[in-house]
Amino acid sequence: MKAFKKLTAVLLALTMIFCCAFVASAEDEEKSGSEPFRIYCTVNGDPQTRRGFSWYTAENVPSLVEITDEEGEPVNAEIAYDDVFEWNGYYCHHALVSSLEPGSVYLYTVGDESTRSAAGTFSTDDGDQKTDFIVVADVQASTEENFEKGAATVNAALATMDSAEFIVSLGDFTNDSDNEEWDLYDKSFKEINASTTLVPIAGNHDGLGRKNWFRNMFCLDESESVETDDGVNYSFDYGDCHIAVMNTNDMFSMTLAQMKWLKNDMNSTDKDWKIVCMHKSPYTLGKDGKWPDAMYLQKSLTRVLDECGVDLVLSGHDHQYLRTKPLKGNRLNDDGSVYVLCGTAGSKRYEVRSFLAGAYLNTNFINTLVIQKNNYGNYWNGEDWNSTDERNIGGCFNTISVDGGTLTFNSYILSDELLDEDGERLITNTDSFTLTKETGKNEITYTGDNTTSRAEYIAGLVPSFAALAVYTFTDWLPKFLAITPKIIYVYITEDTF
Ligand SMILES: [Fe+2]
Repeated sequence: MKAFKKLTAVLLALTMIFCCAFVASAEDEEKSGSEPFRIYCTVNGDPQTRRGFSWYTAENVPSLVEITDEEGEPVNAEIAYDDVFEWNGYYCHHALVSSLEPGSVYLYTVGDESTRSAAGTFSTDDGDQKTDFIVVADVQASTEENFEKGAATVNAALATMDSAEFIVSLGDFTNDSDNEEWDLYDKSFKEINASTTLVPIAGNHDGLGRKNWFRNMFCLDESESVETDDGVNYSFDYGDCHIAVMNTNDMFSMTLAQMKWLKNDMNSTDKDWKIVCMHKSPYTLGKDGKWPDAMYLQKSLTRVLDECGVDLVLSGHDHQYLRTKPLKGNRLNDDGSVYVLCGTAGSKRYEVRSFLAGAYLNTNFINTLVIQKNNYGNYWNGEDWNSTDERNIGGCFNTISVDGGTLTFNSYILSDELLDEDGERLITNTDSFTLTKETGKNEITYTGDNTTSRAEYIAGLVPSFAALAVYTFTDWLPKFLAITPKIIYVYITEDTF
C-alpha cells in the first residue's frame, strides 16, 4: 500500500511538473521573441516637442521607434535610445523622441527592424491657453475581469471627453505588480495607452518597494529632479498649466528634499495654473487616512503648497472621491488649494471611516464626498455619511478643462449595473466645480538648478525621518489613541478597520 502511495505521489509530482512546464512554455510562447509589449507613450519634458517611449521584449533585441505624420509620412524627429536593459525577466527599452512640431498629430510604432508594434498615436501640445485632460486613480486589479472593468471606466472617460490631450493616472496600476498582472493590465489597456499620452504617478503598489521599478517601467524626464528609489518626481508645462508629479513612496510618504524640489519647481514657473499630482492624499476618510503618512502630508506638504500658490492637488490611494473646500494653513481659506481624492477607476472601493472625522479630517473641510462601494454608494449631505445613491456604485473618472482663467473639473461614475435610456451603462456626473482666476499674475521667483544630488538626498534622510517622527508622536499618536475606542467599535459593528 505504501509503495502504491509513493508511486501515486511520484506520478502526481511528475504530472504537475509536466503541466507547469507546459504552462510556462505556453506563457513563454506568448512573450517570446522580439514582439514588443507594455508599450507606453509618456510625457517627458516639453509636451509641445517631446515624448518618452518604453516597451518590453522577451529577447534582447535593438530598440527602434518609427514616427510618422497622420498620412504615414516619416518626420524629422530626433530619437535617442537608452541601452536595452534586463528587468524582471524581460528586456526593457526606453527612447526619447524630440524636435516634434507643436500642435501635431503623430503615429508611431516600436520594436526592432523586423518586428513592429501596431500603430499608436499622440498629439503634441499646441501651447494655447486651452487644455483638456482626464484623471483616473487606482485600477489596482489582479484579475482579467477587474482590469476590464477599469478599462471600461477609462474608455467611458475618453468617450465623455474626446478632446482629452493626456491621461493622468494617479498610481496603483496593479495590485501585486508582478508580470502576470502587468500582462493583464496590458491586455485590457493596450488600445487606451496606444491612443494618448500617459502621465503616470507612482503608487505604493507599483513595484511594491522594488528599487527603481517605476523609472524602469516608464520613460520620464528626471533631468532636473530629486532622488528617490521607489518612484519618480517630474514636472511639465501643458498649455497654461504647470503640473508637478510627486512620489509619495519615499520615507513613508515624502522627504524634505522632495518638498524643497517642489517649492523650487513651482517657483520656477509663471504659468497661471499650478497643479500637483500624487498618489497618497493628505485629506481622506478612507482606510489609509488613519496612518501617519496622510497626517504628515497634511501637516508638512501643505505648507509648501500654500507658499507656492498651488491651485489644485489631485491624489488617489484611498479609493473614494473626496473634494475639499479651498484650504490654506489647514484652514478654510478662499485663496487656498482645492484637494481632490479622485475616487477609483477600479473595483476595489473603500467605505467611509467615520472615526477619522473630526480627528484627522475636519468635516467642515469637505465639499463633496462620494463613496463607490457596493451597498454603500454614500454621499456627504453635510450632516451624515449614510445618504445613499445607487448611481454612485461604479468606476470613477474625472475630467479637467482649463481655458484661460477658468478651470472646470467634473467627476463621473460609470455605473456597474444601471443602464441609461439607450441601454448603455449609466454615467452620472457626481461632482462639478469651477475655479477662476485673473491670469498673468504668477511670477518666476526661482531660476537655479533644481537637481538634488545623491549626497544631498542621503544627507536629508535623517532630518526627514526626524520630521516624520515628530509629527507621528506629537500629532498623530495622541489622536490615534483618542479614536482607538471608535476604531474598535466600528470594527465590531461594521467590520471595517
Ligand atoms: Fe495606494
